[in-house]
Amino acid sequence: MGRKESWGSGLGFVLASAGSAVGLGNLWGFAYRASQGGGGAFVLLYIFIVLLVCLPLLIAEMVIGRTTGSSPLTAPLKAGGKSWAPLGWLFLIVSVGILSYYVVLMGYAGTTLLHAFLGDLPLDKAAAGDYFPSISSGGVSLRGQLLSIVLTGVVVGAGIRRGIERLTKWGMPLLFIMLIGLAIWASSQPNAQEGYAFLFGWDWSKLTDPQTISNAFKQAFFSVGTGIGAILAYSIYLNSKSPIPGEAAAVVSLDTAVGLLAGCVTFPLVAILGLGDLVGEGSVGTLFSTLPHGLAITSLGLTGWVVSVCFFGLVFIAAITSAISLLEVPVSSLIDQIGWSRQKSVWVSIILIACIGLPSALDVEFLVKIDSIMNALLITSGLILALLVGWSKPKLLIEDLTNGGTPRERTNTFLWTLRWITTPAIALGLVIVLEETLRGWSG
Ligand code: PFF
Repeated sequence: MGRKESWGSGLGFVLASAGSAVGLGNLWGFAYRASQGGGGAFVLLYIFIVLLVCLPLLIAEMVIGRTTGSSPLTAPLKAGGKSWAPLGWLFLIVSVGILSYYVVLMGYAGTTLLHAFLGDLPLDKAAAGDYFPSISSGGVSLRGQLLSIVLTGVVVGAGIRRGIERLTKWGMPLLFIMLIGLAIWASSQPNAQEGYAFLFGWDWSKLTDPQTISNAFKQAFFSVGTGIGAILAYSIYLNSKSPIPGEAAAVVSLDTAVGLLAGCVTFPLVAILGLGDLVGEGSVGTLFSTLPHGLAITSLGLTGWVVSVCFFGLVFIAAITSAISLLEVPVSSLIDQIGWSRQKSVWVSIILIACIGLPSALDVEFLVKIDSIMNALLITSGLILALLVGWSKPKLLIEDLTNGGTPRERTNTFLWTLRWITTPAIALGLVIVLEETLRGWSG
């Protein structure tokens, strides 16, 4: 593997991994899934799953990257032997599959940022109704997809330190500052309380509602972005003394904080438009139709311009810092497996991904279907990863963490959690997600 590369610092790795985690999932996915109901129960389940399932899995994924030093395609084989090789392929399929429609969504974000910049976000209800269909089809959508994948390729092509680390080092702090500013601004809006009440409203029955549980699972996995090899690809460049558990905890904390803060920005805005009407059915368009309209009517003039440019600017930054981690999976696999240069691997990957993403760029229904298939596959590969590290090769985890300076009792606690909580919880979650997905398709 191209081990000549490395992270400039531990902070660089944490910010890049947090950049991978913080993305459209926090802004688009959170608003879209939370708006399907569930309220506080959805938020609580999501937090539990992040802590007890995604965090131990993220630690396992980082360990596999660091100990094998191999790309996501070959790391499972190297760690566990031949029978685990299919997991490498699953990493590749899921990351390419997600990136194929992720850049389409990133294109919507870029187009909306441009509209915000030009000050022509939809002002009346009729224009708002036409807005999403106009940016999600035909040439506009294709152009957005193409520009997004090329931009992602340029950053990944520049390398770990000069491309990925450099972008995330300024992008992530900027994103946090803008988000905090926007959350403060949103709290002063007249319908803020109504928005918070919708997001955090409590209903006991939702805790056992399969749709809420399935949404919380999909949201947690997609948002942390573990179980797909992206953070594994970043961990290859970690040095052996980096404190993996602390770094993983920092990543999930930042990711969860951004998800919650983003909810505190989006829900007050959505509430202005009348929650029942616009988000009742919680569609993909929530972020790209309801919010541009909400932003356009809440504040006019300079404040309106600044707020909407900041909001869609941060959506775009969040999207690109995640897209680069997804692209790093096929790219590092090609470098590792075929021995191509980084540049060549990037260009071949993005051409392939752009072609695979064409149906999503042209048809939102297709995008939604692929998203639900990829979410189920993401949880499946997470389950296999938990079985590999927790059950088949626990020694890898123990040795790597102990070498890295983690006290033995703490390592044992991680292992115990990975085996007895994370693994069965993912298996159960997967069954619920599959049932809900199939029910959604048949109904
Ligand atoms: N976590 C990203 C988001 O919330 O948008 C999406 C993502 C990135 C998923 C990287 C999976 C991944 F490996």
